[in-house]
Amino acid sequence: MSTLRTLLGIRRPLLGAPMAGVSGGRLAAAVSRAGGLGFIGGGYGDHDWLVEQLELCDGQPFGVGFITWALARRPELLDLALQARPRAVLLSFGELGDLGRRVRDAGVPLIAQVQTVAQAIGAAHAGADIVVAQGGEAGGHGGWRGTMALVPAVVDAVAPLPVVAAGGIADGRGLAAALMLGASGALCGTAFYACHESLAHDEAKRRLVRASGDDTVKGPIFDWLRGIAWPDGPWSLRTLRNDSTERWGGDLDGLHRTLPEQQKVLERARHCADFDIAPVIAGEAADLVRERRSAETVVADFVQQAARCLGQPWPTLL
Ligand SMILES: Cc1cc2nc3c(=O)[nH]c(=O)nc-3n(C[C@H](O)[C@H](O)[C@H](O)COP(=O)(O)O)c2cc1C
Repeated sequence: MSTLRTLLGIRRPLLGAPMAGVSGGRLAAAVSRAGGLGFIGGGYGDHDWLVEQLELCDGQPFGVGFITWALARRPELLDLALQARPRAVLLSFGELGDLGRRVRDAGVPLIAQVQTVAQAIGAAHAGADIVVAQGGEAGGHGGWRGTMALVPAVVDAVAPLPVVAAGGIADGRGLAAALMLGASGALCGTAFYACHESLAHDEAKRRLVRASGDDTVKGPIFDWLRGIAWPDGPWSLRTLRNDSTERWGGDLDGLHRTLPEQQKVLERARHCADFDIAPVIAGEAADLVRERRSAETVVADFVQQAARCLGQPWPTLL
């Protein structure tokens, strides 16, 4: 059975998560330059944006991640991604089905990000080469299982497939813990959100650097406000708390009744970067993101700290 290292051709066991609107070509390239593999976040499927970001990878290896149910509505974007020769395609949130088959037929490693053990088994049967077990601590959409218990359960369920841990991992201690749980590496989003190369707004980065995981909350509010109709499933969106989550968290009926009006409020807030109203999408690992740095520094610190935790010299940490 192939290892994470041989499948992806990486030197460090760290993947930069696909993050819609946040992880573009520059961030993906920076993570890869540091020895991991960075993923462009194909998100909800903007053709021109994806073309632009694929061109920014600067000759570095990269992966492309898609939200599966959104890609199913614009399957031509998968051809676009595959033509750019990614090291891997990562599909999250939905059945792999025909999209997964097309990735495999192109000879590109297929990564499935899952939130439950049952989904992991389904992904293995559907031909995934690597499974990302994503705990509910994650920023963005995620499930309810905690990373600590989910990862070893998925490792056991899909052995000998390589498993990558995600959700709440933002420094070398978390990476070391993931490896001890049987994962072959970690996939991290929140850790890279405030990096110089990330496309997040400066003010959003500033807020994340000051935030704690205590300040995050999960719910459907921002999907409704953004008009994104997520299909039913074991997932919901984790963001920092703000006026919107405080106002509507306990009054979803009220939000539903006044939705068109509130959607305009959100649109205006996004336009003027008012993050008291607009979302900062981040996970419980917010406590561990304390400054804005280059992605290369983040990867180097991650791996050096993990090596210290595990008592192994850094070059052998894979
Ligand atoms: C800002 C942000 C946007 C995200 N967007 C996506 C996405 O478009 N597709 C996806 O599969 N996962 C997305 N995620 C989830 C990541 O793939 C990953 O599971 C998560 O970041 C891992 O947890 P962590 O944030 O604690 O590192 C996003 C996460 C963040 C923080």
